[in-house]
Amino acid sequence: MVCHCLSLFLQIFLQIMTMGLLARTSITLFLMVFLLKSQTLAFKLFSFRSVTHEIITRVAILETTIGVCRDQALREGRDFVPPRIVTEESLAAACSSPLSAKGFKRSIKKIVGRNAWVDVRHVFSAKHHFDDESFLRGRDLITKGVFTVKASVKQQRYECAREKLGEVLHTLQDFYSHSNWREMGNRRPYSNLIKPSSPIENIADSATCRSCIGNNCSGNILEQINTQRKLTSGYFNLVSSNKPEGKCSHGGFFDRSSGRDPKGGINKDDVDASHGYLHIEAAGTAIGATKELLEDIRAAAGDSEFLRLMGFTQTSVLCFVIDTTGSMSDDIAEVRRVTSSIIESRKGTSKQPSEYILVPFNDPDYGPLTRTTDPELFKSKMGELQAHDGGDAPEMSLSGLQLALTGSPPQTEIFVFTDAEAKDKWLKSTILALIERTKSSVTFMLTNAFSGRSRISGGPQFSSRSSNHLIGIYQELAQASGGQAIEVTKATLPQATSIIVDTSSSSLVTVLQAVRNPAKAENFTFFVDSSLQNLTIYITCNSPNYIITSPTGVSQRSSELSGALGTINKVGNFHAVHPNISDQTGEWLISIDSTQPYTVKVVGKSGIDFLFEFIEIVDGPHPSYAVLKSRPKANSNVTLMVTMVGGEGVRPTEIALVETATSKSYNVTVENFESDQFIATFPSVPAGEFQVRVVGEISSTRASTGPFQRQTSTQLRASSVTVTVQSDAGTLEPGRSLTLPFTVSTSGSGGVFNISVSNDRSFQMTDVPSSLTLETGGSVNGTVTLTAPGNTPSGTDVTLTIEAEAPGATDFNYAVLRISVVTPVTDITPPVCEIVSVNANCSGNCSLSWWDLSANITDRNGSGIQRVEVSQGLGTLNTSTVLDGGVNVTLVFYAASCCSPQVELVVVDSAGNVGSCSRSVTVEVSTTTSPTSTPANTTTTTTATASLDTVTNGAERHPSLPVFLWFTVGFISLYQFMQL
Ligand SMILES: *[C@@H]1O[C@H](CO)[C@@H](O)[C@H](O)[C@H]1NC(C)=O
Ligand SMILES: *[C@@H]1O[C@H](CO)[C@@H](O)[C@H](O)[C@H]1NC(C)=O
Ligand SMILES: *[C@@H]1O[C@H](CO)[C@@H](O)[C@H](O)[C@H]1NC(C)=O
Repeated sequence: MVCHCLSLFLQIFLQIMTMGLLARTSITLFLMVFLLKSQTLAFKLFSFRSVTHEIITRVAILETTIGVCRDQALREGRDFVPPRIVTEESLAAACSSPLSAKGFKRSIKKIVGRNAWVDVRHVFSAKHHFDDESFLRGRDLITKGVFTVKASVKQQRYECAREKLGEVLHTLQDFYSHSNWREMGNRRPYSNLIKPSSPIENIADSATCRSCIGNNCSGNILEQINTQRKLTSGYFNLVSSNKPEGKCSHGGFFDRSSGRDPKGGINKDDVDASHGYLHIEAAGTAIGATKELLEDIRAAAGDSEFLRLMGFTQTSVLCFVIDTTGSMSDDIAEVRRVTSSIIESRKGTSKQPSEYILVPFNDPDYGPLTRTTDPELFKSKMGELQAHDGGDAPEMSLSGLQLALTGSPPQTEIFVFTDAEAKDKWLKSTILALIERTKSSVTFMLTNAFSGRSRISGGPQFSSRSSNHLIGIYQELAQASGGQAIEVTKATLPQATSIIVDTSSSSLVTVLQAVRNPAKAENFTFFVDSSLQNLTIYITCNSPNYIITSPTGVSQRSSELSGALGTINKVGNFHAVHPNISDQTGEWLISIDSTQPYTVKVVGKSGIDFLFEFIEIVDGPHPSYAVLKSRPKANSNVTLMVTMVGGEGVRPTEIALVETATSKSYNVTVENFESDQFIATFPSVPAGEFQVRVVGEISSTRASTGPFQRQTSTQLRASSVTVTVQSDAGTLEPGRSLTLPFTVSTSGSGGVFNISVSNDRSFQMTDVPSSLTLETGGSVNGTVTLTAPGNTPSGTDVTLTIEAEAPGATDFNYAVLRISVVTPVTDITPPVCEIVSVNANCSGNCSLSWWDLSANITDRNGSGIQRVEVSQGLGTLNTSTVLDGGVNVTLVFYAASCCSPQVELVVVDSAGNVGSCSRSVTVEVSTTTSPTSTPANTTTTTTATASLDTVTNGAERHPSLPVFLWFTVGFISLYQFMQL
């Protein structure tokens, strides 16, 4: 409610402002009053500092993405209408990719979460925050980090890239709060912080501060420091008051150094900070700096890769893990058929899969993982799959699945096809850990389970774990992930693959999910909201007996394959119910009576969903939070951060942990700390498997459309064991080793804990203890040393899972780490683009005349030119390479209609350094019949300049309207808008 009032207020305020009724000073005042006010209303622990990082990051990403979408539309000759209120949802819709909203939001959360984590993990490290005048080391972190991001994107390891990007942005943004950049009068970002080849000069080498007068620190930086443009930042010390003579302090309650002369501080972390009067200005510049860095990554990666990094186009992913042993040829043929049918039927529609992932396995081989956006390449990879040899032996199915889980985007629907049991059962807890971390769901297509030739032993019975432990492992993994273990014959497999067609969509949401093992007669109710389409009910069970009743009382029994409600597709143990009645909104009932264990899953397609993470809130000098990479603690309170997807009108009324086996729920009150983000703290966690359920209201200004319910499909667990990794170094060099110390602790009883460590790339691991002995309530340290082979491509990553199992094997926990493998970059200079000639005669009707330009591009001793691209302009580009005096020169010829008089070329070298050159030509007569959508002012400069690196000033290239996300964002953007 608070948010709504404020955003309304903001809009009125904008109107006043655009009418020019307020002077700038009173605007600042106005903003500050409201920022203060909004803070006291916001969630306390995420007080201003971390909200600022979150908001700065989010606004910058949204604004940069608007620019990408606008440029793409322009190139494709489409109109681009920026959304009036910019959110992930509205922007995804404006970019003609409405299904991307969830992935976009998830990626931003990932980046922001890692940004917040820097305040937890590196709270005492000066360089991570530009404290203690550590400008060179801070800049080094940023530029090295950016190279890692670029290398990871190149290898399509987006999750790693997002994490590194979040870390880098934290440090970059802190510069504007902790240094005197703003006090020197700078409004624009300090671009050298993201340019490794530019010097950082003029770092203050003398005293920089005098003591504050009481609490007033506004004049504490010595005048000559600012006027001579000497760079300084505050010293920060938690434990002692030591700092070099005459230096400024960070300031604030936790900084002991600010108690010693010169007293007081200079940070702008929030409005109450020592230099809080500059907080909003500093935040505005930090947004500009964040955009500048994002534009650099965008230029290096290219627009479509940038969008994928932002999770923008990973809408529906087809992911198959396929057994390629001899007996699988029919299955492989069926997967080929389904894939082709999906590809063909969705060609050119928004439902077309955005990515295709394939992992083959047999024994002893598995992999490699193929990940592509090109349906034809995927089809040809599928075509190459050969079912060959391998007798009745079990296969490396879990190793293949491990690759799929670590190599696909989060929340992917993965399909595993096999007719053999798993040989690598030792990976079971690793797979469970990866399922819990990625929230991907795994459906097993188990063929031949009924045949005498079956390589899966056990009969046609739906196995309880005891009666059929061989298939049991697949069932257990399917259930844990919210997928199914579908047992069919080779002949009936084609009837079961409809589930692939149904679920390969990013808008798939889970409404209800439950497992009953042992079986139990039960009534399940669930609510279908008006946004939900293609309602489907999956029941996996042998000989189930059920009745489904719609809100209007229409019902159908399991024995009727076609009935009043719709159709039931029954094959093997798998039932898919597709209701086709028109009136589906309201409460449904499934009445099940079965003597065999069963799972029920209700799904549909909807833009309304939620994302969640367990977090640990950390108080202290920089209140922040860390996203848990392991199971939450048993017998303790846990905190859940929930992000709603679906637009402003989607609000939760209840967040609950639901026991999977009984559907008993644990509810708590919900705290809102940003418009779409909510915190729920649970005093305790269910002892067994549980899921997260959100019930809420959908409302819009036009109409209230009623309640909704959503549930996660992943089953979660708490644990009394914890595994923490102390040094999260984050990167590994090819050919080098990395030693990771970790700690295993327990809040339960002691004994011998089994330790197992695995990684998805078969990197060598040494020094791994096979067990550790803990005392009751105690903890013990261990290490693992991981070595990357020398030929590991830079930009790939390795996912390391460290598991600790309590005595008796009843409980285990894990830490899952993604570590980038990067070769240190030696080429830090951008390629050079020199315009050598321009031919233009743009008079008369622009659509009848042409101009062209030639340029030479060189990277001298660098890593070599990788890509030349037109970032502005609608002409055509031709390139060729010649050897000139031992140097490779890329010759560029650009030709365009005079209606497109400007061009900017972006040049990227193999290391990801970005150079550019631009030119505009004069159009003497403006015409009214311009056929292309060029910018309005076609009459521009005659003195064309070729300038390098202008691309990084994306913020200036695409001045956009203020972004109104929610109130705080609105204020900062508004402020920034006024600065331009
Ligand atoms: C389910 O509901 C029906 C009718 O509402 C009732 O007759 C039946 O006993 C219920 N079954 C269970 C297991 O509660
Ligand atoms: C989903 O429902 C729409 C109509 O609401 C229908 O056109 C479409 O074929 C359905 N898709 C699937 C996969 O069932
Ligand atoms: C949660 O538990 C921790 C210790 O386990 C305690 O310090 C903290 O106060 C608890 N928080 C709440 C909200 O109960």
